[in-house]
Amino acid sequence: MEPHMPLSVLRCIDCGHTHDLNDPVYVCAQCGGLLDVEHDLERLRPLISRELFDDRLRHLEPPFNSGVWRYKELVFPAAPDEMIVTRGEGNTNLYRAPKGLAAWVGAERLQLKHEGENPTGSFKDRGMTGGMTHARMVGANSALCASTGNTSASMSSYAALAGIQALVFFPEGNIAMGKLAQSVAYGAVNVQVQGDFDACLDLVRQACRTFGIYLLNSVNPFRLEGQKTIVLELIQQRRWRAPDWIVLPGGNLGNTSAFGKALHEMQQLGLLDRIPRIAVIQAEGSAPFYQSYREGFAARHSVKAHTIATAIKIGNPASFYKAKRTLEWTKGIVESVSDQEIVDAKAMVDASGIGCEPASAASVAGVKKLIAAGVIQPQEEVVALLTGHMLKDPGVIIDYHQETLQGFNSPYANRLRTIKPTLDSVESLLRSARVTAG
Ligand code: F0G
Repeated sequence: MEPHMPLSVLRCIDCGHTHDLNDPVYVCAQCGGLLDVEHDLERLRPLISRELFDDRLRHLEPPFNSGVWRYKELVFPAAPDEMIVTRGEGNTNLYRAPKGLAAWVGAERLQLKHEGENPTGSFKDRGMTGGMTHARMVGANSALCASTGNTSASMSSYAALAGIQALVFFPEGNIAMGKLAQSVAYGAVNVQVQGDFDACLDLVRQACRTFGIYLLNSVNPFRLEGQKTIVLELIQQRRWRAPDWIVLPGGNLGNTSAFGKALHEMQQLGLLDRIPRIAVIQAEGSAPFYQSYREGFAARHSVKAHTIATAIKIGNPASFYKAKRTLEWTKGIVESVSDQEIVDAKAMVDASGIGCEPASAASVAGVKKLIAAGVIQPQEEVVALLTGHMLKDPGVIIDYHQETLQGFNSPYANRLRTIKPTLDSVESLLRSARVTAG
């Protein structure tokens, strides 16, 4: 290979056409297919090793103190360090599921990778550091995304750091309060669009093309390069031993796509002992990928999405074909869970002391369902992804525990109580709550 050849190119996953990394395209200019950032793994191979990534764990300064840039060679090898927009994202905990939660799920060896522990409270920061770095490299002045709330929170924060103007399109009335508060506070221009997420994303694509604004949804392949590091990091945390299963919620299917690419590249580079199977969990009312999977992908479905888990209320996932490729690479499967299963799983994850937002709990509900169905064995090693922080959506928590969540039961409710300011009231409270003294 010539030394002046680029380390990475953009390649269409359908027709193979390549584009320069700096071309302002988000889909293939020839056929409209999705683009991968394709790294020259043969040239990178001599640089990459488990030891390199382990050695970087001692770094205290940017960029290598980040749980994304630790793996720079597999994320964005050509990015100049001074251009990197980072908040030291990643480095999230991989918890062993507390006993009560594991027993409820029926899993003996369940771990939880908590991406809600990122700087803005969701996994989106891992992708945003990659995408915003590229935006800065190409000299973008403004960036736009459609969002159910987490992408926008993340983009607004990273745009502020980079000195780039953030513009955000939300589906009107369908965003959790914690998330909306973030992008308002970080200074984005926040716009409610009278339509659902899918309509917002369509509009973003057209607006970016027409007005030359930098697009930061996950069809931007630099985002997915950052999101790959969730898998790299969780396997490194397991001392490079892959689990049997990685289970994650699926909405727009960016993460699903990123996970497959990460595992595929890790295998090619000898970083993996075996390939874990991916299980994608969708909410029943927002499950077009599940429908297609069930029919052997005879057709690509899209639906009018419904679910209480607003983060994954998506009817026409943009990364559909990349996610399908992930299933092929990992012997992956797709399952769906009801909203009741989601809120109950969330209540259990929360009460275990770990906590997550509703969409995240879809992964735990999915593990429970797949174990009950005999697809996952109870003794298999499972890593379930928690994608967002508990405080993103306080409304669902309060309603569930007050038993005011319309159309739902609250079997694990923890009611707020009110008493008169007397010792007698405290005494009867202690008796009824079974709180013992001492
Ligand atoms: N979990 C959370 C907390 C999310 O915010 C999202 C997506 C997903 C799961 C689904 O991930 O799209 O990669 O399949 N949120 C996007 C947003 C759509 O706008 O914040 P996916």
